[in-house]
Amino acid sequence: MSKLKIAVQKSGRLHEDSMKILKDVGISIDNGKDQLKASARNFPLEVFYLRNGDIPQYLRDGVVDAAIIGENVLIEKGQDIAIIEKLGFSTCKVSVAVPKSFKYKCISDLQGKRIATSYPNTVNQFLKSNEVEANLHIINGSVEIAPNIGLADAIVDIVSSGSTLFKNNLKEVEVILKSEAVLAASPLISEENQAILDRLQFRFQSVLKGRQ
Ligand code: PRP
Ligand code: MG
Repeated sequence: MSKLKIAVQKSGRLHEDSMKILKDVGISIDNGKDQLKASARNFPLEVFYLRNGDIPQYLRDGVVDAAIIGENVLIEKGQDIAIIEKLGFSTCKVSVAVPKSFKYKCISDLQGKRIATSYPNTVNQFLKSNEVEANLHIINGSVEIAPNIGLADAIVDIVSSGSTLFKNNLKEVEVILKSEAVLAASPLISEENQAILDRLQFRFQSVLKGRQ
């Protein structure tokens, strides 16, 4: 029998809540994230533990049928991928932040500035729609350190509790987008696996209603 292949973040802010919603819908998964792949015991499902940023490509290629992923990652790398359900957890913002000493008034204050980020497409789209030109420095993590080491004048990164901004003497000045975990589907999913995904989505909906 066919199994639905679903991608889940291997580690990071979505991992635990993703595993929790699978558990809450009554799916028990054999092993933890040390394995890159695990099977459900009581539902036709295989879980693939992947890096967040790789998931849009796996969906596009049909290597996985579905994913639990941050909406922000799809906005950055997978605007062609369909979101079929918002899951309400792992909420965050993607925001512009500057040093507290920066006398920021409006978006045009970013004109000609150096912006460090892991979200270049999101930033470029934001700058373009506001007719601002800036220089992007693309880095993969610890973005908030960039202004303190003189690498950038501003950053764009995820803000959740705001603690990382605070610790690095930065202030949020623009919210580019708000994000939460979503269930996304591959455009190449087979009819058979779509039927399994429909069942999974239905279970998710029931649990989400109960959580409200
Ligand atoms: C993420 C993100 C922010 C921070 C936001 O970083 O890149 O830096 O969390 O969360 P907060 O507002 O609750 O502080 P993470 O710790 O996952 O590490 P990374 O940037 O090195 O990937
Ligand atoms: Mg970070």
